[in-house]
Amino acid sequence: MSRWTAADIPDQTGRVIVITGANAGLGFASAKALAHRGARVIMACRDPQRGQTARDRIAADAPAGSVELLALDLASLRSVEAFAEALHTATDHVDVLMNNAGVMIPPFGRTEDGFELQIGVNYLGHFALTGRVLDLLEAAPAARVVTLSSLAHVGARIDFDSFTGEKKYRAWRAYQQSKLACLMFARALQRRLSAANSSVTSYAAHPGGTRTDLQRHSGFLAFATRFAMSADQGALPQLFAATAPEAEPGGYYGPGGVAEVWGYPKPAHVGGAAKDEDVAQRLWTAAEDATGVRYLG
Ligand SMILES: NC(=O)c1ccc[n+]([C@@H]2O[C@H](COP(=O)([O-])OP(=O)(O)OC[C@H]3O[C@@H](n4cnc5c(N)ncnc54)[C@H](OP(=O)(O)O)[C@@H]3O)[C@@H](O)[C@H]2O)c1
Repeated sequence: MSRWTAADIPDQTGRVIVITGANAGLGFASAKALAHRGARVIMACRDPQRGQTARDRIAADAPAGSVELLALDLASLRSVEAFAEALHTATDHVDVLMNNAGVMIPPFGRTEDGFELQIGVNYLGHFALTGRVLDLLEAAPAARVVTLSSLAHVGARIDFDSFTGEKKYRAWRAYQQSKLACLMFARALQRRLSAANSSVTSYAAHPGGTRTDLQRHSGFLAFATRFAMSADQGALPQLFAATAPEAEPGGYYGPGGVAEVWGYPKPAHVGGAAKDEDVAQRLWTAAEDATGVRYLG
């Protein structure tokens, strides 16, 4: 597993791969790498213009694959439902769902359904999306769900009273919480899939420190990440989780260098809070109640 790179991605011809937030940063890098290996990539993006520009760039760069665009705004459960419907029209199966899109420390805001933006987009939106397309994943021979967490999950905790944004907003804590929720979701999803004898498996990944637009709301991080990995390198852990035969179901992958900030994919450190299965169970139920999407119960 040392120095696993995009050149190690197995041939993806005939495989259908859905990536949220594929128009920028790590999602764009992942879409490009998978299209280069022959995948049919469905880019799930919220802004039609940015999505189309990104799609055209990848299509020109990676003619081996095919690249399509479908509208998805994770800050709207109506949009998640409409996206899932459109996806059912576009394909009869999905081989990989990459829950990649995310926002970090934006000014306080709420989703269309009244949830604090970071927990709403990063976790609840992806929870609902996964449930709504689970049948398409089950229709593939051995589909994978890859969900993006972060080094920031370490030291975080889930505060169930904060989801609707009525408590004092602490932007960084809310980001940490959302990324802890994503990691707990990926692990809980694997436990539930396995209990249901499903052919689908679940993984989590993080990109260490990668230079993208994510840090746009943080002057310090925006400066610091000028020295961080490129998106092409930072995307390797999520590409490994999505495609490498040696990736372990339920595994969490990140860069293997010092403090997991840079390097090539390796199993990543799972913080103590992420292993709490009682909280994970509550988190799952809270997401079902919040989104109205219930699955693998
Ligand atoms: N970069 C890092 O160092 C780092 C570290 C740890 C974890 N991560 C995680 O990696 C993932 C990708 O982030 P990135 O660094 O590539 O950031 P990025 O360049 O800002 O890309 C984020 C993507 O998410 C999309 N997005 C945001 N809100 C959305 C919504 N409501 N509905 C649909 N899509 C939405 C964005 O679309 P727009 O272009 O329309 O805004 C964009 O395509 C995130 O989950 C992030 O938490 C990144």
